[in-house]
Amino acid sequence: MTVPRHVAIVMDGNGRWAKKRFMPRFFGHKAGVDALVRTVLSCADRGVDYLTVFAFSSENWKRPTEEVSGLMGLVLVAVAKYLGKLADKGVRIRIVGDRDQVSDKLRQAWEQAEASTAHNTRITLSVAFNYGGRWDIVQACRQAISEGVPAAELDEAKLNQYMALSHAPDPDLFIRTGGEVRISNFLLWQAAYSELFFSDCLWPEFGDAELDAAFAEYARRDRRFGAVDSAQRAQA
Ligand code: IPE
Ligand code: IPE
Ligand code: MG
Repeated sequence: MTVPRHVAIVMDGNGRWAKKRFMPRFFGHKAGVDALVRTVLSCADRGVDYLTVFAFSSENWKRPTEEVSGLMGLVLVAVAKYLGKLADKGVRIRIVGDRDQVSDKLRQAWEQAEASTAHNTRITLSVAFNYGGRWDIVQACRQAISEGVPAAELDEAKLNQYMALSHAPDPDLFIRTGGEVRISNFLLWQAAYSELFFSDCLWPEFGDAELDAAFAEYARRDRRFGAVDSAQRAQA
């Protein structure tokens, strides 16, 4: 079976999962961290090279202050709790997103997570935090301009070098849990030819069964990238 080399996931549905249990939303986010750790290890076991997850969007600042600060605090707790385990399992961690608006403490936690796993090669986990696809395109253009790249030299490959995920190939499979069928400003540039998979499963419940279903569906897709289908390719 063809395994996607790069999987991207919009981890949605934490709040609804908690609500169903008459619990505060934070309880859902906490369970979401456990689902993430499970998923990283399952993807590594299946031979996925890159996993990129949407943890906090540029637009999530619109949520109530308590929820936003709860999420920031949860990141610190999650790094303290799981960094050692992920590092031992060969996970390389990268954070993608605008670091300017987050606290010094959080920036330090990200730096620690990246530095202590930089040598790992089994799977690269990119955590999109304070990330938006539009932000990414704008920051890439700004960097290119500030480095003095001439307009005539700025083609797709060149701009891609400045995008936040320049360390990874484009995602092959784009999964969104939680039942919403939209991209919500995730990898607008990189997902141009990703296969999309939407699941009703709420993120804290995501596990091997859902990953199997997504990968099986991915293996059935005929990726044409604008060219002819596989039957015609075989004839040619
Ligand atoms: C996704 O779950 C996690 C974040 C956006 C931080 P939600 O918090 O959006 O959960 P729902 O969509 O309200 O259920
Ligand atoms: C997308 O989920 C962002 C993350 C999962 C981090 P949202 O819950 O913020 O998206 P909308 O508001 O339903 O589009
Ligand atoms: Mg949501």
